[in-house]
Amino acid sequence: MPRTWFVTGTSSGFGRKLTEQLLNRGDRVAATARRVEALDDLAARHGHRLWRAPLDVTDTTALRQAVDQAFADLGRVDVVVSNAGYGLFGAFEELSDAQIDRQIVTNLTASIQLARAAVPHLRRQGGGRFVQVASVGGQIAFPAMSLYHATKWGIEGFWESAAADLAPFGIGVTIVEPGVSRTNFGAGSAVLGAPMPEYADGPSGQLRRMLSGELPPLPAPGDPAKIAAAIIASVDRPDAPLRLTLGSDAYALATAALRDRLAALEAGRDLAFSTDADVADDVAATVAL
Ligand SMILES: NC(=O)c1ccc[n+]([C@@H]2O[C@H](COP(=O)([O-])OP(=O)(O)OC[C@H]3O[C@@H](n4cnc5c(N)ncnc54)[C@H](OP(=O)(O)O)[C@@H]3O)[C@@H](O)[C@H]2O)c1
Repeated sequence: MPRTWFVTGTSSGFGRKLTEQLLNRGDRVAATARRVEALDDLAARHGHRLWRAPLDVTDTTALRQAVDQAFADLGRVDVVVSNAGYGLFGAFEELSDAQIDRQIVTNLTASIQLARAAVPHLRRQGGGRFVQVASVGGQIAFPAMSLYHATKWGIEGFWESAAADLAPFGIGVTIVEPGVSRTNFGAGSAVLGAPMPEYADGPSGQLRRMLSGELPPLPAPGDPAKIAAAIIASVDRPDAPLRLTLGSDAYALATAALRDRLAALEAGRDLAFSTDADVADDVAATVAL
């Protein structure tokens, strides 16, 4: 049974691959992008199954209008994909206030606002799926990427909580956590802070030299076409997996980070228990919350 999808950030990378594959298999796509003309070739090939709207996701009013219009024009939307995003890199002292605000609004607030715009429609139609393209960077943290990680860890927390709120309405949530992948995300779309000499010899300077081509880039095992196919296959499953960790690097980094975190947590067990109140009933009440 063909599905209808709403996807943000479809002009390149994962969003573009997803749109291509969905149209090729006969689904309908409401594709939004800042540059909708990047989809002219797909419009020529797939005609009415591709609905397009120009959208900068940081404009919440336009975001709501695009969602409402898509549901109005297409009748129903089965899957909403929050994909648009980019990386802001550099030590946080090197970043301007405007750069920080834009990173947060694009990667975090816009995804929350997309959920707020779409969920009333999904509830009314009796269910659906929400797919959040997050990152393995929502499970681990590299230096010189603190703002990017703040948004991706933030959206993980948002969805882990919201997924439980939405389950009774038949709305499934999947957080996609790709590793480093061959899209425009690196040298193409990355935004850098203003270099400070204090950080030139550390991870920030090293990342800057990687992105400028002075140093070899990070290995990028992720194939965007395979990642798009894995996202589609996850939606074909009857129950939404809460997380899809994609890429050998993502798997290795996330398992190592989670093991380290669990070991550190367990090492602090006695300290954690030692700070409980003395009255057993109070403790039981707190744990029950
Ligand atoms: N590639 C990786 O290594 C990697 C790994 C983990 C997670 N991710 C995540 O994957 C998602 C997609 O990135 P990608 O790798 O496919 O990179 P990409 O090729 O640079 O694609 C990013 C897409 O997001 C769009 N976008 C950025 N800001 C936007 C805005 N304000 N409004 C609307 N669209 C906007 C871009 O549009 P324009 O063409 O107009 O700029 C582009 O279509 C991002 O959320 C990213 O954090 C990527």
